[in-house]
Amino acid sequence: MLIKIPKKSELSENQVTQESVYLQRRQLLKGMGFIGAGTLLSSALSSKAHGSVFDLFKEEEKPVFTRKALSYSGQAGAENFPEKLTPEGKVISHNNFYEFGAQKHQPAELAQGFKVNPWQLKISGEVDKPVTLDYDRLFSTFALEERIYRLRCVEAWSMVIPWVGFPLAKLLKMAQPNSRAKYVAFETLHDPEQMPGQSSRRLGGGIAYPYVEGLRIDEAMNPLTLMSVGLYGKTLPPQNGAPIRLVVPWKYGFKSIKSIVGIKLLEKEPPTTWNLLAPHEYGFYANVNPGVAHPRWSQASERRITTGGLLARNRIETLMFNGYGEEVADLYKGMDLRKFY
Ligand code: MTE
Repeated sequence: MLIKIPKKSELSENQVTQESVYLQRRQLLKGMGFIGAGTLLSSALSSKAHGSVFDLFKEEEKPVFTRKALSYSGQAGAENFPEKLTPEGKVISHNNFYEFGAQKHQPAELAQGFKVNPWQLKISGEVDKPVTLDYDRLFSTFALEERIYRLRCVEAWSMVIPWVGFPLAKLLKMAQPNSRAKYVAFETLHDPEQMPGQSSRRLGGGIAYPYVEGLRIDEAMNPLTLMSVGLYGKTLPPQNGAPIRLVVPWKYGFKSIKSIVGIKLLEKEPPTTWNLLAPHEYGFYANVNPGVAHPRWSQASERRITTGGLLARNRIETLMFNGYGEEVADLYKGMDLRKFY
């Protein structure tokens, strides 16, 4: 089935659910029965990533993370977006955040005590005016807007998520990149005390932390590229990358790095976490491309996670650039996307 894609991805919704994160988490734990395994890992590593985390996680001892309502200017409405939003309960319970475990249910459990305030995000490197934003300024420096985007994981599942945030371009312009700035490197917090996956190979999947990512400067400046501070009208929960993360909707989800503390403008292409771990599986560009299979997954179709039931999962065709070709195809004119995967 081909889905009709509206030109811009600017659609918005102000749909704040009242259920508490705590209740959703409990419901999920029951429903999931703690089954699952991290699948991004290359096969050699994945056998080592299994194992129980019950010894590390005692539910009753963890403080529950409270999310605050965000004020933002919506644009259009969710009613105009042709696809169903993924329910909030799914968005915040089926996660990839290896710093908190390589299995989908683990981040929602193990990240609940994560401290996001105080926080510092530094923009440095090839810029005329380095910038540092503290926790409050992440939410108050730029007007917040809502964007409904598809998120397509390289593991061939996808969601539709109403993010709240601001264009990365605004943040970069504030720092005034100089003429040598050709790439943008991103870095996640490195804090093994808070992020158990960073000190345990079993939990953290053998990744060399901190998690790092990168974009070309023109990709970073594209209006679709978002710095997100919230979803479903509230601040991000820790498992989705609080307090601030990147969202690049035309690329596989692993480019959308979470809990960012550093952004550096560079002359050369920066290293990226999954490329370092398994270069034959994960490239720097990672544009969603149904014509280029991953060694372990065809990318021709995807399982859209929509309704809550485990059986209610839809298989749909994957679209080139995740359906955002009109906005981004020009960035790759003349490039062989099989080579630059
Ligand atoms: N960022 C960090 N720091 N660590 C991670 O493990 N996982 C990535 C990305 N960002 C990851 C990360 C992957 S593989 C995906 S698919 C998305 O986050 C998932 O985002 P979500 O959990 O909010 O759906």
